[in-house]
Amino acid sequence: MTPRRAQLRVWDLPTRSFHWSLAVVFTAAMVTAGSDRWLDLHIFAGYALVALLVFRLLWGFVGGHYARFRSFTFGPRVVAAYLRALRNDRPPHYVGHNPAGAWAIFLMLALLTAIGLSGIAVQGAEEQQGLIAGWASIGTGVGLHELHEVLAWTMVGLVAVHVGGVAVESWLHRENLVGAMVHGRKARRGGVPSTAPYRLLGVTLPLLLIAAAALYFRPAYTQDNEHPYRPFTGPTLPQDASWQDECSACHLAFPPSLLPVRSWQRLFAEQGNHFGEDLALAAATVAHLRQFAAANSAEQGADEAAWRVGHSLAPDAAPLRITDTPYWRAKHREIPAAVWRQPNVRSRASCAACHRDAQAGTFNDAAMAIPPAP
Ligand code: HEC
Ligand code: HEC
Repeated sequence: MTPRRAQLRVWDLPTRSFHWSLAVVFTAAMVTAGSDRWLDLHIFAGYALVALLVFRLLWGFVGGHYARFRSFTFGPRVVAAYLRALRNDRPPHYVGHNPAGAWAIFLMLALLTAIGLSGIAVQGAEEQQGLIAGWASIGTGVGLHELHEVLAWTMVGLVAVHVGGVAVESWLHRENLVGAMVHGRKARRGGVPSTAPYRLLGVTLPLLLIAAAALYFRPAYTQDNEHPYRPFTGPTLPQDASWQDECSACHLAFPPSLLPVRSWQRLFAEQGNHFGEDLALAAATVAHLRQFAAANSAEQGADEAAWRVGHSLAPDAAPLRITDTPYWRAKHREIPAAVWRQPNVRSRASCAACHRDAQAGTFNDAAMAIPPAP
């Protein structure tokens, strides 16, 4: 596919692959944002975005002629002159990015970098997962999350400006700029150079993304209770042999991180009548279990669920049920009543019916699956 005689190759294949992959990945991240249910997808999109940005940064130095940053670096005066000419409907024609478009590109690249990095920071703090898991507190993560959202919506605004700019320039110069970003070519005007196509690299880029997605999502389709799908694992809660022994006979040995220490004190004080059962625990066992519960209670905020349970309770509330905490209720509000009556669910307390990682206490969204009615 050599460029036709009157045509000039402007956008090399890697640049086009980058552009459209970025559009797909950013859209995917926006669509899956805000719902924990799609967090694994959102996070994959985020890391893919960062990988694409790293590529674009390198390509800006070693890539095809029009992809190099040097070829579209314009001073503010040039941009001002361009905008003035635009107002008079006669802006000069640029083969690559025009000065205003170039500034939008640099702004978008900078903003996307900030979005990607803040996303990794939010994941590391709010979820205590990912590349820099645990670098800051969950509270810090909640604050950063807001910044991350503001940046993302600013980006949506800039994309709108960018698309508007493309439409205006296409119209003013009677040139299909969207088409040019698809096939790479523009009509030749003057003696400017064509760029090399770099086809192999251009094809490899999206293939790498697809391969990474296949690797990342494969466990989602093969998971069971022994192999829950947890693309990112946060802190694993400490296990205690005696807690497992004493508390797993009738139900899941609930992780102590999902109730505050007050609740656990109350539960052990009332162990003679535990939801109609007498736990009949020896004093020494109770002392040990109490200590384990206190060291790993919601107040310790070991993971996001623990932190949120702790913050959802009034300071003196001591519910005996995890399922009575406002956080738990909010998270499970949308589950239809019929699901709770299914024989393979039955009780709100049968966490493992829906959470494949309940045993580990991680309650990762990706490992959650409501069982179909039998
Ligand atoms: C009928 C199925 C079902 C049962 C039973 C169930 N859950 Fe859930 N759980 C869900 C669903 C659905 C969500 C919402 C996931 C979302 O918002 O993405 C959820 C969310 C959660 C979350 C929030 C995870 C996060 O990081 O956002 C926690 C923690 C949790 N459940 C704990 C429990 C515990 C503890 C139990 C048992 C006491 C339990 N669940 C029982 C279906 C269930
Ligand atoms: C002899 C059986 C038995 C044993 C042993 C037992 N429990 Fe329970 N537990 C129950 C029953 C029954 C319920 C109510 C379950 C329901 O509502 O579906 C319950 C509920 C709970 C709940 C509330 C679940 C919810 O709805 O959020 C917690 C927390 C709990 N148990 C903690 C413990 C701990 C900690 C231990 C170990 C020290 C323990 N249990 C040992 C029978 C038992």
